[in-house]
Amino acid sequence: MKNLPLLFCGIFFALAFSFTGLILTSNIQLGSLTQTTEMLVPSDADPSIMVMAEGEPLFPTKPVGLAQQGKEVYISMGCMYCHSQQVRRADFGADIDRGWGPRQTVARDYILQERVLLGTMRTGPDLVHVGGRPLNADWHHLHLYNPQITSKGSTMPPYAFLYETREIDGAPATDALQFPPNSEYGPEPGYEVVPTRRAKALVEYLLSLKINYSLPEAPILE
Ligand code: HEC
Repeated sequence: MKNLPLLFCGIFFALAFSFTGLILTSNIQLGSLTQTTEMLVPSDADPSIMVMAEGEPLFPTKPVGLAQQGKEVYISMGCMYCHSQQVRRADFGADIDRGWGPRQTVARDYILQERVLLGTMRTGPDLVHVGGRPLNADWHHLHLYNPQITSKGSTMPPYAFLYETREIDGAPATDALQFPPNSEYGPEPGYEVVPTRRAKALVEYLLSLKINYSLPEAPILE
């Protein structure tokens, strides 16, 4: 093994090179990103420096309460194997034209997320702005219970196990699913389908996914 030092040198440089390229460079470029106001304004002291607008709200914000628990359900159900959460630039695909979001998403949009669910596959639509679409909780519950009810021919699997079918005891539950009249997916007469806590959390999470704020590097252009 007379080439051992050379071998070790090679291993060292391969590791050092990828560490620098993948981790160090990204950290230098993105590691210091913080929440910011939607627009920057010239600083009073030095108008050539742009600073955050005083008193304005900071973005992005963190999902709270039930929505945060819903993210865990989203992860455990593997939704990200079919759904991405990133909108590409207007000149880099049709994401914005498809209505997947009002602007491209940028690194800062994700800084408060411990687990970023960018996704790689787009078997279904991108969901980073799904809470901004005209789909309410009732729609999401029916769709999750069985996508065929709302989206005939969908290849998305049903998540009926997140719902409980039970006999109606007295008055129907207020959160029971409202099936379209004569739907073949509805329960037997006298029975109702109610969301479990996990289903409610998941829907709350979906409704919380919104890109409805500008960032200085990615403003929403009307
Ligand atoms: C096998 C791939 C697949 C998986 C896994 C999957 N989906 Fe889907 N999803 C689709 C397809 C295809 C569509 C488009 C047709 C439709 O609306 O059902 C879709 C549509 C949607 C929509 C409607 C979006 C819109 O803008 O119309 C939502 C919301 C959604 N999925 C949520 C989820 C959630 C939450 C999970 C995990 C519990 C999940 N999906 C898992 C394939 C998938």
